[in-house]
Amino acid sequence: MKFSVPRRTATLAVVAAMALGGLAGTTASAAPGAALAAPDIPLANVKQHLTDLQSIANANGGNRAHGRTGYKASIDFVKAKLDAAGYTTTVQQFTTSGATGYNLIADWPGGDPNQVLMAGAHLDSVSSGAGINDNGSGSAAVLETALAVSRAGLQPTKHLRFGWWGAEELGLVGSKYYVANLPTTERAKVSGYLNFDMIGSPNPGYFVYDDDPTIEQTFKSYFAGIGVPTEIETEGDGRSDHASFKNVGIPVGGLFTGASRVKTSAQVQKWGGTATAFDRCYHSSCDTTANINDTALDRNSDAVAHAIWTLSGGTTTPPGKVFENTADVAIPDNGAAVTSTVDVTGIAGNAPATLKVDVNIVHTYRGDLVVDLVAPDGSVYNVHNRSGGSADNLVATYTVNASTEVANGAWKLRVQDKAAQDTGYISGFKLTFP
Ligand code: TRP
Ligand code: ZN
Ligand code: CA
Repeated sequence: MKFSVPRRTATLAVVAAMALGGLAGTTASAAPGAALAAPDIPLANVKQHLTDLQSIANANGGNRAHGRTGYKASIDFVKAKLDAAGYTTTVQQFTTSGATGYNLIADWPGGDPNQVLMAGAHLDSVSSGAGINDNGSGSAAVLETALAVSRAGLQPTKHLRFGWWGAEELGLVGSKYYVANLPTTERAKVSGYLNFDMIGSPNPGYFVYDDDPTIEQTFKSYFAGIGVPTEIETEGDGRSDHASFKNVGIPVGGLFTGASRVKTSAQVQKWGGTATAFDRCYHSSCDTTANINDTALDRNSDAVAHAIWTLSGGTTTPPGKVFENTADVAIPDNGAAVTSTVDVTGIAGNAPATLKVDVNIVHTYRGDLVVDLVAPDGSVYNVHNRSGGSADNLVATYTVNASTEVANGAWKLRVQDKAAQDTGYISGFKLTFP
């Protein structure tokens, strides 16, 4: 079903996103190119994995917690499926709180070893229950996506690696251990890490992490395509394993359907459900197979596959030199222009006649916006002038004839919001010199 969001009132998510801020600095992540369409992930398969994880808990004192037999049994279960599907699996051991913990890493053979796309989920539960939403849901969706990669015989441009982390519930211990033991040279090859922790909450919201702009946009595009509105995840940035990767500079993203926070009435309007906790069984004994919203699990599982297909199949390092600023810049409502700057260095002579300008602006009404590229000497090239009306966001690539400009120097993206009420922020600005 297609939702219609009242255009001039849906500013909440953007305000929250601005408060959170984003990753600053320059990255080299390439825009995804044309990729094969991802398969529809069968919900029945994902649910079967949850049933199996529930059985493992039932046979092991009711949980799958770090240091308990149900955890190792969960690792063995996932590993066997991946081995049978042709993955190269590794079990990594660590010790925390006086018990052995395990991470499971699965590499899909092939792809560029210098560009690794990772996706992962924590496999441990808390000791009070089976942990089917937290985090059987993410574990099962990542597993089924990995199995779909095998069924499709996917040969992506990037190398694919999947991870199931131990002892997340003790403070992201397993994922921190993995990252700490990944040599610096190997870390630099990880072009992105996608995290899935709680994606089948019984009273779901559809939250996308506000981190790497390309990853974030990939998820948002998926949900836009099925007509499901999303919001930026704000129930605790850094509360799951993506933080371990983000902390060492790896671009991250992910999905979440909500934990103990209460759904607002505005969110009930948007997504249905009730104005109660997203997951009333969070960290409790009722987090069983009954604690799953099938629609949320289905959509999010398909979104996992969409992201893996899209982000792994894209063109590699774009030809030429790329200069990018991914720091978020708030755009004041109906106010002064703001800018995001990239410093271009190392290019002889003038800029090209085909300077590629990638603009990523998150906004609730792009018809409010005037967007210019400003050359180092102050010359102005208008790329967007209040067109597009009530559509959200301005995510576009423009080609600018900048052949009369000296290439090196500070180039600015200048954005002004010219009408009251709707707001947003610059999420990314990138120049590509062919
Ligand atoms: N990781 C948390 C847990 O397992 C759940 C959680 C809370 C979460 N807030 C989050 C996960 C935000 C992802 C994003 O207890
Ligand atoms: Zn948890
Ligand atoms: Ca406005």
